[in-house]
Amino acid sequence: MGKWLVIYSSVTGNTKCVAEAMAEKMQDVDVFSVDKVPEDFSMYEVVVIGYWLRRGAPDERTQTFLPKIHDQAVALFETHGAQPYSEHTITAFARAAYLLGEGCNILGTFACQGKINPALIAMRQKGGADDPHANTEENAARWALAAEHPNAVDLAAAAEFAGCLYQKLEIWKKYHEKIQRS
Ligand SMILES: Cc1cc2nc3c(=O)[nH]c(=O)nc-3n(C[C@H](O)[C@H](O)[C@H](O)COP(=O)(O)O)c2cc1C
Repeated sequence: MGKWLVIYSSVTGNTKCVAEAMAEKMQDVDVFSVDKVPEDFSMYEVVVIGYWLRRGAPDERTQTFLPKIHDQAVALFETHGAQPYSEHTITAFARAAYLLGEGCNILGTFACQGKINPALIAMRQKGGADDPHANTEENAARWALAAEHPNAVDLAAAAEFAGCLYQKLEIWKKYHEKIQRS
């Protein structure tokens, strides 16, 4: 079993917290923030990439990082303020996958809500009626729901997801051609 790499991008700590919960379940792993990534990824068997959603897509630092990964087994995870399993969060995975370099095999994806920066909420509370993020009852309920996350249940689910990745990798190796490393 080779070494794994977890890369996360996090401003207020939600995604970092999920990354750490995942890494605890991994056997031999390096964990780096996206602004301290190693030059060479070729020695890693799996690269797990976590980011926060900004404007329905991975945050900018992750957008810059994703194209650097190619010919790797990859897993993606995201934290977000939107409703869990919503179209918004699923589309964001598609956007992340589109940005990955060529030849990547996506072993799996994981998402959970993360509390939204209070400064952003304060700004949105001032938004006008035509602002889709304005302080409507629906948005306020969503912000309140997100404020509870990531919670213990999310972190347990993240750890379980990390554990399942080993099995997913073995299944991939068994039924598909091995990824050709350059
Ligand atoms: C500027 C900004 C834009 C955001 N845009 C979105 C978004 O488009 N969709 C979403 O679901 N959450 C959005 N969020 C919420 C964050 O993705 C969420 O709080 C995330 O867990 C923050 O992760 P971090 O604590 O690791 O930085 C946004 C937050 C900020 C600050």
